[in-house]
Amino acid sequence: MTIRAARSFLSLADISPLELREIIQHARALKQEKKLGHFPQRLKHKNVALIFEKLSTRTRCSFSVACRDEGANVEFLGGNEIHFGKKESLEDTARVLGRFFDGLVYRGYAQKTAQTLAELSGVPVWNALTDEEHPTQAIADLMTLEERFSHLAGLRVVYVGDAANNVANSLMVGCAMVGAHFVAAAPEQYWPEKAYAEQALKFCKETGGSVTFESNPHKAVLGADALYTDVWVSMGFENEPNVQQRIETLRPYQVNASLMKATEVEHSIFLHCLPANKEMEVTTEVFESGKSLVFDQAENRLHTIKALLLRGFSAG
Ligand code: CP
Ligand code: NVA
Repeated sequence: MTIRAARSFLSLADISPLELREIIQHARALKQEKKLGHFPQRLKHKNVALIFEKLSTRTRCSFSVACRDEGANVEFLGGNEIHFGKKESLEDTARVLGRFFDGLVYRGYAQKTAQTLAELSGVPVWNALTDEEHPTQAIADLMTLEERFSHLAGLRVVYVGDAANNVANSLMVGCAMVGAHFVAAAPEQYWPEKAYAEQALKFCKETGGSVTFESNPHKAVLGADALYTDVWVSMGFENEPNVQQRIETLRPYQVNASLMKATEVEHSIFLHCLPANKEMEVTTEVFESGKSLVFDQAENRLHTIKALLLRGFSAG
């Protein structure tokens, strides 16, 4: 692997707990910097390609605005607009794009695709969501939690719903890396994947965090500082044969006023990566309540992604 490819960010496991905390601190400083109107253009003349095989609002806009704030040029390459994996192999596309661009951002299906892009392009690659992981999201989530509570270690973060998806996998590992207590409140078949649970448990040994799986939602949320949920059917899984059954199984895991109350914690907050499917995984009442920090969370995607871009280009 080249040195530049080594600055890729494909997974939380690519960085240490210390680096994660540094990225969050850097993102908080960048948020202030932008609010003060300072734009030091640290990525001038860099060209960054956004290869998106799935839809995106927040992540696409975060990478675009962060690049432009820093003086970089962005090229959006929708999955159907280039030969990617169809008329041209992934391997050849990676080598071609590496000759044009200084960095690549990838949103799509297999984590393995992001890895191949990083290995063969020779330039840093950022994972903007795969079926398995959403690591840039988890960093923004942790930043939002830290802004609210002023610390991360010891917080109890309960993820309710489809805990086997990309957002849950990354949030679980992220919580473990900062010493928080992550609880998956989900039916057993939707608990996080074993490989990610093992990754998280390894970090817990170092940080004092913990990981718990619980199928009773009311029991799981007791003592929660934050309830977090995401859609019950992720992008790319809409046409699976068991979708209706999946929704019925997850219905008792809706985040509603009764579940928020069951935390028995006055200061508990609600988080969601968005986009939300209201009246499914969360009620409009909770989404629109004073406990909901979902728009701070969305804004923090920009600042954390900017910190990750600067790290990737060693331009911090
Ligand atoms: N949370 C998130 O990744 O949103 P988008 O799908 O809009 O990028
Ligand atoms: N789990 C969701 C997250 C969207 C940001 C999905 O993959 O569709």
